[in-house]
Amino acid sequence: MISTNIPVIAIDGPSGAGKGAICCRLAKQLGWHTLDSGAIYRVLALAAHHNKVSLEDETALATLAINLKVHFYPLPDLSGTQIILEGQDVSFSLRSESCGAAASQIATSPAVRQALLGRQRAFRTAPGLVADGRDMGTVVFPEAPIKIFLTASIEERAQRRYKQLINIGIDAKLSNLAIEIAERDKRDSTRTIAPLIAAADAYVIDTTGMSIEKVVARVSSIVQGLNVTLN
Ligand code: C5P
Repeated sequence: MISTNIPVIAIDGPSGAGKGAICCRLAKQLGWHTLDSGAIYRVLALAAHHNKVSLEDETALATLAINLKVHFYPLPDLSGTQIILEGQDVSFSLRSESCGAAASQIATSPAVRQALLGRQRAFRTAPGLVADGRDMGTVVFPEAPIKIFLTASIEERAQRRYKQLINIGIDAKLSNLAIEIAERDKRDSTRTIAPLIAAADAYVIDTTGMSIEKVVARVSSIVQGLNVTLN
């Protein structure tokens, strides 16, 4: 049974808004766990590819989702997570834009989302969880005491994604990234189930032109300013 007494900070927003970096830094400051929910959708997309399951076959995808043998290990410096799928390190291959696009495609399926719900909620362990995704504050942890919604202009998000990919050695083209991000935004925010939307009680922060440090400081000040018990 998963305890709802364990605090959660839900960080949602579109692709490239900086959620992952903010989530890791905040969790490090607090000494909490992290959940990169997008990685779970990406892992499922990759597993579907490995197992030759069609991205349109919702029933087969949901079965695959329930049986996925995947493990998440935080890196020693807490800057990210090593992801092992069926004994294989997929941390790198998950990051490609094609994997992100496939993840976004399967994420439109209600059966898939339902099958992945318990797996995401299981990350809620003491002393607390910083969870990032699209529906952390609206569906997965609607009772989270702190909800943040990060946005930024498409141009800036494409730039950030470009730098991230180049840094980890994945070839990318800035103009293509802007188009792919815009497509992903559209699909994520117009799907009928768990669309990308800020929870009514979320703090919305437009991070265009802000450094990661500035965003972390802003989120930390919101966390400190809120009268909620975090420990
Ligand atoms: O965040 P990331 O780019 O890794 O997510 C990949 C895709 O997974 C997103 O475009 C989105 O469609 C889907 N996703 C989702 N709900 C989440 C996290 C990710 O639908 N909580």
